[in-house]
Parts: sequence; structure tokens; C-alpha cells
Amino acid sequence: MRVGRNFRNLVVALVAGVGALPVGQLYAASGEDVIKSRVTYMRDELQGQWKVLAAFGKAGTGSLAEVEKSAATLVELSKKLPGHFPKDTGRGNFPDKLTTALPAIWTDAAEFQKATQNFATETAKLVTLAKAGNKDAVVDMIGNTGSYNRTKIGCGECHQKFRGPTVRD
Ligand code: HEC
Repeated sequence: MRVGRNFRNLVVALVAGVGALPVGQLYAASGEDVIKSRVTYMRDELQGQWKVLAAFGKAGTGSLAEVEKSAATLVELSKKLPGHFPKDTGRGNFPDKLTTALPAIWTDAAEFQKATQNFATETAKLVTLAKAGNKDAVVDMIGNTGSYNRTKIGCGECHQKFRGPTVRD
């Protein structure tokens, strides 16, 4: 039977997108919920994988196989990125304390898409380098500072343009 990838992808997207919410409430998800889920995605999912890369780049901790696995996970996660940025769920529409997402994400959507694509392309490159056992090139790409804003895999390029400074109480 050909239920097909599309249906499966839809189910996966729904599950990934709404977490524990019943499907009926999909469109009722508030901007606050979107922002919270986006921050969790950035902090837990992306940064979680980044930590593996950072440890390797900075201290030589772990293995090329682990780098390859985390980089491949980032390639997959990059596909979920656009879904975390529904229109106008950033500053200007929500308090600066709640989100650091800048309005340029939507007013300059082509650039934002480029930054997303760049992230997907560079993390895929890292997979290839790690798989080939090219340690020097891997470390060069990851960087040795531990900072995700200085790596060449594309986190920083996007943050510089599209993420504003944190505001505290
Ligand atoms: C295409 C753009 C883009 C890419 C690529 C990207 N980010 Fe982000 N990131 C953002 C934006 C925009 C925000 C602000 C989200 C908000 O506050 O609503 C953010 C926020 C964050 C935060 C802060 C979450 C918090 O606690 O408020 C972390 C941590 C983070 N990103 C890590 C990463 C890492 C690590 C990578 C790369 C592996 C990465 N990001 C790649 C756009 C991006």
C-alpha cells in the first residue's frame, strides 16, 4: 500500500510541531507557545548537538564518528527550522524579554532563507569531512573557541543578522 512519504511526513511534522497538543488545537497554538517551542529547539536540540562539536573542536574530546553523527542530526534539524518561525512571532509583535527574534526574519525573508540554507549546506559539508576522517578540516570548520557564534557551520551568520540582544528584567 502506498500511504506514502507525504502522509508520514505530515504526521511527523504534526507530532514535532505541536508536541502534546491535540491536533485540533494546532492552529490555536499561541505566539507565546511558538516562541517557547522555538527557544527549546534552539537551546536543547541545536545547542545540544553543538556541544558535541564544540568539545571536539576545542578540546579534542570525543571522536570523528560522534562529530559525524551530531552534524548529521543538525542537517536533519535544519529542516525543522523554518517551521519554528511563523510570520510575525518576533520582536515588534511580542515583548523583547520573551524573544530575541528580529522582525528582519520576515521583512527580509529571502535573506533568512539563505541563512537557513547556509546552515544546512555547511553542516552537510561537516558530515562529509568527518566521514572522510579529515580531522584538520573538521576542526577548522567547527572552530576551537567553543562558541557557536564563531563556528563556520552557520549558527553565527544567522544570529548576527536575525537575533537581537537579550533583555533582562
Ligand atoms: C537561520 C537562523 C538561525 C540558525 C541557522 C541558528 N539559529 Fe539559533 N536562533 C535564531 C534566532 C532568530 C533566535 C532567537 C529566537 C527567539 O528568541 O525567539 C535564536 C536563538 C538561539 C538560542 C537562544 C535560545 C534562548 O535561550 O533564548 C540558542 C542557544 C541558539 N539559537 C543556538 C543555535 C545554535 C547552536 C545553532 C547552530 C548549531 C543555531 N542556533 C542556528 C536563529 C538561528
